[in-house]
Amino acid sequence: MALLEVRNVTSGYGDLQILWGASLDLEEGRLTTLVGANGSGKTTLLRTIVGQIKPWDGQVIFQGKDVSKLPSYTKADMGLIMVPEGRQLFTDMTVQENLEMGATPKRARAHMKQNLEKVFDIFPRLKERADQKAGTMSGGEQQMLAVARGIMSEPTVLMIDELSLGLAPVLTLDLFMSLRRLIKEGITILLVEQNVRMALKVSDYAYVFQEGKVEMHGPSKEIENNEEVRRAYLGI
Ligand SMILES: Nc1ncnc2c1ncn2[C@@H]1O[C@H](COP(=O)(O)OP(=O)(O)O)[C@@H](O)[C@H]1O
Ligand SMILES: [Mg+2]
Repeated sequence: MALLEVRNVTSGYGDLQILWGASLDLEEGRLTTLVGANGSGKTTLLRTIVGQIKPWDGQVIFQGKDVSKLPSYTKADMGLIMVPEGRQLFTDMTVQENLEMGATPKRARAHMKQNLEKVFDIFPRLKERADQKAGTMSGGEQQMLAVARGIMSEPTVLMIDELSLGLAPVLTLDLFMSLRRLIKEGITILLVEQNVRMALKVSDYAYVFQEGKVEMHGPSKEIENNEEVRRAYLGI
């Protein structure tokens, strides 16, 4: 059984349907990526999984339990955490204060000190900048901080929306590599990316999303070699 199962989820905004029967499995200890064109509904799917939007139909099953209808704070307490698109940091607060804001789920609150040490160990740059205002850091550093704040929530599953958006390629590669470290720490990751090439390089398993549902999935290596994917997303 997968750690997280999304089963035929439909959802949207008002009358506007965006998800048309989305299904995916997150296997424990695996870096899974969800790639697809802008506007295909990737963010909507993440928001539905964490409970910011309610599914109209279908199920989200986490650790064998149907969590489809639970509020987002309950899901966060259970370890379902999202790093939102566009970071949403508190730019006037320091790096450390931003990290402490991540420690809102119950279990994370009790371990804030240990988790802060862990985060500083994974991202030494953030330790150096602990007292600096978040808004004065570079785009790459801010994205690092957004991921680190997610770790402060003590995730079982960390879902990252558009890690590479707006970053220089070198920084992106560094950040992608740090995801492998998080996997080693026992965090299961779902990486949502428009940078299909890099996402397929760093991940173990991939889902290709199109118009609100999964079009294709498989080991990232296989997806990378798929003719259709190469033509549509890799420009080869
Ligand atoms: N709050 C919202 N209200 C209405 N429509 C929205 C809202 N958020 C996103 N959408 C629409 O849902 C569709 C999918 O968006 P999104 O899930 O952000 O896609 P992606 O993350 O793949 O780019 C888009 O057409 C977008 O305009
Ligand atoms: Mg998006």
